[in-house]
Amino acid sequence: MRDPGSLRSHQWYGTDGLRSFSHRARTRQLGYLPEEHLGKPVIAVLNTWSDINPCHVHLRERAQAVKRGVWQAGGFPLEFPVSTLSETFQKPTPMLYRNMLAMETEELLRSYPVDGAVLLGGCDKSTPALLMGAASVDLPAVFVPAGPMLPGHWRDQVLGSGTDMWKYWDDRRAGLIGDAELAELENGLARSPGTCMTMGTASTLTAAAEALGVTMPGASSIPAVDSGHDRMAAASGRRIVGLVHRDLRLSRILTRPAYEDAVATVLALGGSTNAVIHLIAMAGRSGVPLALDDFDRIARTVPVLADLRPGGQYLMEDFHFAGGLPAFLSRLTDVLHLDRPTVAHDSLREQLAGARVHNTEVIRPRSRPLADEGGVAVLRGNLCPDGAVIKHIAAEPHLLRHTGPAVVFDDYRTMQRTINDPGLGITADTVLVLRNAGPKGGPGMPEYGMLPIPDHLLKEGVRDMVRISDARMSGTSYGTCVLHVAPESYVGGPLALVRTGDTISLDVPARSLRLDVPDDELERRRAAWSPPPAKYERGYGALYGEQITQADTGCDFAFLSRPGAVPDPYAG
Ligand code: FES
Repeated sequence: MRDPGSLRSHQWYGTDGLRSFSHRARTRQLGYLPEEHLGKPVIAVLNTWSDINPCHVHLRERAQAVKRGVWQAGGFPLEFPVSTLSETFQKPTPMLYRNMLAMETEELLRSYPVDGAVLLGGCDKSTPALLMGAASVDLPAVFVPAGPMLPGHWRDQVLGSGTDMWKYWDDRRAGLIGDAELAELENGLARSPGTCMTMGTASTLTAAAEALGVTMPGASSIPAVDSGHDRMAAASGRRIVGLVHRDLRLSRILTRPAYEDAVATVLALGGSTNAVIHLIAMAGRSGVPLALDDFDRIARTVPVLADLRPGGQYLMEDFHFAGGLPAFLSRLTDVLHLDRPTVAHDSLREQLAGARVHNTEVIRPRSRPLADEGGVAVLRGNLCPDGAVIKHIAAEPHLLRHTGPAVVFDDYRTMQRTINDPGLGITADTVLVLRNAGPKGGPGMPEYGMLPIPDHLLKEGVRDMVRISDARMSGTSYGTCVLHVAPESYVGGPLALVRTGDTISLDVPARSLRLDVPDDELERRRAAWSPPPAKYERGYGALYGEQITQADTGCDFAFLSRPGAVPDPYAG
């Protein structure tokens, strides 16, 4: 047990002065007696619940379970509502607001009497946002993943969220199904609260959080509506109190070895390309250098072992009953750093002891991988001097080496309006290029990267083409989509110089993306190029445009990611 006088919250409650007197009086106003809270670790329960967020709609109840655990362990829980980031509803993209939630998390934890935190999130950007903010304050913290929703169903088909939505939408455009089938699909795609149940961005990031060691073991795959999820939430509440007593801060957990293990995990899962941006940003907040090249290097050391959609066949519930992440990580012990601590155990080795795979089709053995290398490749070349990424395991193999003529769209709306125009002459060999969809140009890098296949090609049976953009792509999407091209076109990256008819060469095995245009011609085009006007003249969007960094460095705000002192609120 820790001396109560050494708790951070003691400065608010326990000192001899007017301010502590006032804080104690106001806590009585909240309905608590001094013996209920004084001297106990104060645990902030940061809750991203909202009526608008179907992935987090159960978190109001889970927060109660967390608080139950905190009380049981002798802590004092206080729930804080924070921004909800709903991948489905928030436009133009919740990525625009990831850093806002990170800021809110950091400033709430710093400015209130908090000794430790439990962070409730899971829908895509909420996981990195909460962890970026908490890492910046560096208190003890436990992350509670919202958990995947139940598998979707339609007639005799099992549906994966996102992945099957795109598939059946394309079937409708190709005339294979009609409105009646689509109405049935609407009922069956999302059957319960919880995050997307494919290995999309949400499952990728919550798995990364578990691999980092900031969740209870196995937490990331427990279905949102399983009673085990409630028990995990309560266990997280009990755990955080112990972490505060041991003063085990996030900086002891979120180390370079932990981030390397999270990268290996994401790649071996065949996870979302979005994890590249988020893990780089999270590592930045932890003071850990992590670069695009780390992903490519580690990808060559791990195979893809999880047969999960969109790259494979199964869904998160299957993964959970196959043993979840502890079982999955037990397949990778030769590449993991097993002596590092987690919030639950003194070492990852201890955490994985006894973990077993119960279904070798869902979690494959090393002798039978889905792919010999991790699921994301980093490309370089004159079209992406600071890098680009591709999820090559979700691409048609014959397109991984491809040379074709570009058809360029200057923005997403133009692309939507004109993609089916026969006058563009788009064939299956065309390389579709979308620009002004990056961190500044989007803004927020909307998930436009899986550009639609034109209707006439869909009807001919074409289901994949080479597509290149400075946008991101949903973790549930698929196809030969080169993403995160850096620097983005909006700031004058080479993507801004491509013209329809130029030849582009993609060679994933060689990790190369080239625009086959002579350098002197590119220089002429650069001299004629001028930056597009700013989209936001005021407000948060203007701040975003001024501060956002490029994709290869994580899209954090420059003023948040730089090192520097921040005074303790009681120092002044
Ligand atoms: Fe929330 Fe997919 S929409 S996790």
